[in-house]
This record gives sequence, structure tokens and C-alpha cells, in this order.
Amino acid sequence: MAEPQPIPFATSTPIADTMSGAAVYGPIFIRFFYDTFVLGFSFTYVWRCPIQKLSAFFTSNVTGAAISRGKGTEKQPFRLLDIGVGTGYHMQHSAIPEDAHVDLVDLRDVALGAACRRLKKSHPTVTMQASLGDFLEEDENSGMAITPTRFPGRFDAISCMLLLHCVPGPPSRKAGSLQRLAPLLNPEGVLFGATILGKGVNHSLLARVFMAWYNRTRKFSNEEDDVERLLEPLRRTFANIRTELVGDVLLFELREPRC
Ligand SMILES: C[S@@+](CC[C@H](N)C(=O)[O-])C[C@H]1O[C@@H](n2cnc3c(N)ncnc32)[C@H](O)[C@@H]1O
Repeated sequence: MAEPQPIPFATSTPIADTMSGAAVYGPIFIRFFYDTFVLGFSFTYVWRCPIQKLSAFFTSNVTGAAISRGKGTEKQPFRLLDIGVGTGYHMQHSAIPEDAHVDLVDLRDVALGAACRRLKKSHPTVTMQASLGDFLEEDENSGMAITPTRFPGRFDAISCMLLLHCVPGPPSRKAGSLQRLAPLLNPEGVLFGATILGKGVNHSLLARVFMAWYNRTRKFSNEEDDVERLLEPLRRTFANIRTELVGDVLLFELREPRC
């Protein structure tokens, strides 16, 4: 009799540890290096998308969402969900409606603490809730997924600034995470973000060095990320997609969720 054949393992891409993109965000990095080195130096001189551009993009999406809110919502607080909060830099420097409620989500409690402190100082009237959560988590029962059950009601704006290039790929997995956020978005709302691309852009020599080092040490996982691979799945979920390429950085705005 023939020997039974072993059952082959599934051949899909192994899912890397989602913590890899968040591991560097410890207290010292957050306190001393993130704003100056990452936002100040790298985004201007390496990725050629100055921090002022990113902050203006954040502000225009939040204020735009506040204006385009449907009639009859005046009495409800403006709701913003910020995923991957870092130090809270953009929230600090952005105009956020005074009556807003902000949900902050990150894999690291250090980041959540820093961003909450900043937000409280810069926008004292805004209410906030910090939650540990994983942008990539698909299992609704894990306690880390960002789902309508954990965050009931809909958001006027959802931001994922500078998050996608940090999280493990492939690009379809990152797009899938954005697609899963669609049911949390108001019909007039916006899901927006910015991410450093690994392909389809003209990296400078300095950018190539940073790309290689960061991807090797798994601080970034963006070598496969290009505009088309990120956006193609999203066209099925959002009827209105706007993008802009600034240096090596893709700015995206997703509107009109088809759900
Ligand atoms: C590059 S920082 C971006 C911070 C901020 N949004 C900004 O634009 O300056 C990435 C942030 O995402 C968080 N992060 C990384 N992987 C994550 C994941 N899978 N789920 C949620 N947050 C994650 C990190 O802890 C860090 O706070």
C-alpha cells in the first residue's frame, strides 16, 4: 500500500509579526527622536515631502470632513479616529473642531500616552479615548481588531498617517486593512493617510540607503508598495479616491465607502 502523503502547508505568504513596525516606538525614540529626526529631517531631506505638507494635508482633511458633514449632525461631536498615532504631532498642529471626540489607536501604549498628552494640551476642549489596537488584525475576536463592535457609530474622519510603510506587507494586506475600515466611515467622511512608497518613485541615493536599512531591520516593510498595488483593491470599496505623489510619499484620500 502506498505511504500516505503528508498534507502540504498552505503556500500563502507567511504573515510576519505585526509588531515589527511598532517595535522602535519606545519612550526614548518617541521623546527625543521621532519629531526631530523622522518628521523633521527624514521627511524633508530623504523622502522629499516636508512635514509642513503633511500637516497641511492632515488639517485640510479634518476641516474638510467637518464642513461636509451631513445636515442634522451639528449636535453630534465631530468624530476622528487616528490609527498609528506616533507622538500626535499632526493632531497637535491641526485645527480640530472644538467639540470633537478623538479615538486614538496604536500598538504601543507609549505612543498613545504621548499623543494623548499633546492633544489634551493643544486642544483642551476635545474629548479622547486611547485604545490598543492593530491596524492589520483581521480576527474580530482578538480584542485588537479595529471593528464597528469596538468602535460603534461612524467616524467623520479616519487618519492613517505614515503607517502603511511601517506595517508588514504585501501591499494587498495593507489595502485589506483600509478596506476593513470602510464600515466605520460616515458616508460623507474621509479615510486618509500618507505612506512612503518602495516602488515606482525615483528614490534619491540617500533614500535608497534608508530604504535598504529600514527594510532590513523591519522598521519599514514597503519594498513592494507602489501606487497601483495599494490602490487597486481600494477601488472596489471606495467610489471616490484622490491621490497625490510628493517626493517618495503617496498622499491618499478615500471617500464614499460602498457599504
Ligand atoms: C511612523 S509612526 C506614524 C505616527 C503619526 N501618525 C505621524 O504621522 O507622525 C507609526 C505609528 O504606527 C504605530 N504602528 C505600527 N504598526 C502598527 C499596527 N499594526 N497597528 C497600529 N499601530 C501601529 C507605531 O507604534 C507608531 O506609533
